[in-house]
Amino acid sequence: MTLKLGTHAVTPPVVLAPMAGITNVAFRRLCREQGGGVYVCEMITTRALVERIPKTLKMIAFAEDEGFRSLQLYGVDPEVTAAAVRMIADEGLADHIDLNFGCPVPKVTRRGGGSALPWRRKLFGRIVEQAVKAAAPAGIPLTIKMRKGIDDNHLTYVEAGLTAQDAGVAAVALHARTAEQRYSGQADWEAIATLKQALDVPVLGNGDIWEASDALRMVEQTGCDGVVVGRGCLGRPWLFADLEAAFTGQPTQKLPTLGEVASIMARHAALLVEALEDEKHGCADFRKHVAWYLKGFPVGGDLRRALAMISSLAELDDLLGQLDPAEPFPRESLGQPRGRINAPGKVSLPYGWLDSRDDDTVPEGAEMENSGG
Ligand SMILES: Cc1cc2nc3c(=O)[nH]c(=O)nc-3n(C[C@H](O)[C@H](O)[C@H](O)COP(=O)(O)O)c2cc1C
Repeated sequence: MTLKLGTHAVTPPVVLAPMAGITNVAFRRLCREQGGGVYVCEMITTRALVERIPKTLKMIAFAEDEGFRSLQLYGVDPEVTAAAVRMIADEGLADHIDLNFGCPVPKVTRRGGGSALPWRRKLFGRIVEQAVKAAAPAGIPLTIKMRKGIDDNHLTYVEAGLTAQDAGVAAVALHARTAEQRYSGQADWEAIATLKQALDVPVLGNGDIWEASDALRMVEQTGCDGVVVGRGCLGRPWLFADLEAAFTGQPTQKLPTLGEVASIMARHAALLVEALEDEKHGCADFRKHVAWYLKGFPVGGDLRRALAMISSLAELDDLLGQLDPAEPFPRESLGQPRGRINAPGKVSLPYGWLDSRDDDTVPEGAEMENSGG
């Protein structure tokens, strides 16, 4: 099964979901080495990009061997978004651009950004249209990623999908939850099927793929053209090997021993140190991954805590050496949610936001200065 993004063929039809603070050049390399697909970078704020904020310019670094460089932009202003896309096109900074309309974080929705934005349908349409126009001369496929809507009474996904299709997007991805749900409950795969039926452009399904078999099930149940995998690969970059196997009809599952997991952990930390050009900083960034890698393995609390506080690669090596390398993979952790699973919460919105769908005023202060937030 192959997914077409513009003229680019993606086999298997698998996308690593953009995850702020996670899908940097180091993590993408670990995942890419496992299997084919599209590996999206961390979210980049359009304004920070056009203003060439040094931290942002660092965040859009791709490895030399990243064949199809995929970049996600977050913006609320059609002009600034178009300027960011033009900059990417003119300077050859990426081969694919995704626009984020799914972020549920209160500091973003409170200002009208992320998952709040498609409700303002005209503004949404203008942003997507101008971005597609700016990307077209360079042949860069532009996609959007969105949620079902703000809450069950304010669903936008079918209308937004049609608007994006009319604007000329190459594909539409749906995280099948509302903003109100955040990461709680279960993704509503029926909504993915509904969107697939409504659109002619490829539809990518997202939400609750924990194992490769879930990806096949999503395709079968919804007819979607590809899958977007987020939390399922946290501490498990080898999930992309399982996904490739599953989509090519050889459903094998990698079940690394604790020793093999420890080697991947060491490599991940080393790649982060290399990417951030600073051992302390790289090790600090690695700490958040420790619990994900060790999920389900019988490792004592003291050792877990020490691993989650490392400040050098030598310290990490020493602690990893204390793990039992022969310990088999904990099968009971398979198919289980990992990463963020927070409670639903009322969506913070700007005053009067829900009352004026056709107001296309650009919301103020909705672009954080930095990226990846
Ligand atoms: C830590 C974290 C960071 C995320 N950052 C982004 C982001 O920057 N852009 C985006 O579109 N989605 C972001 N997401 C949402 C994921 O891309 C994905 O839509 C969501 O996790 C649902 O897919 P899953 O069930 O496979 O995890 C983030 C999710 C997590 C857990």
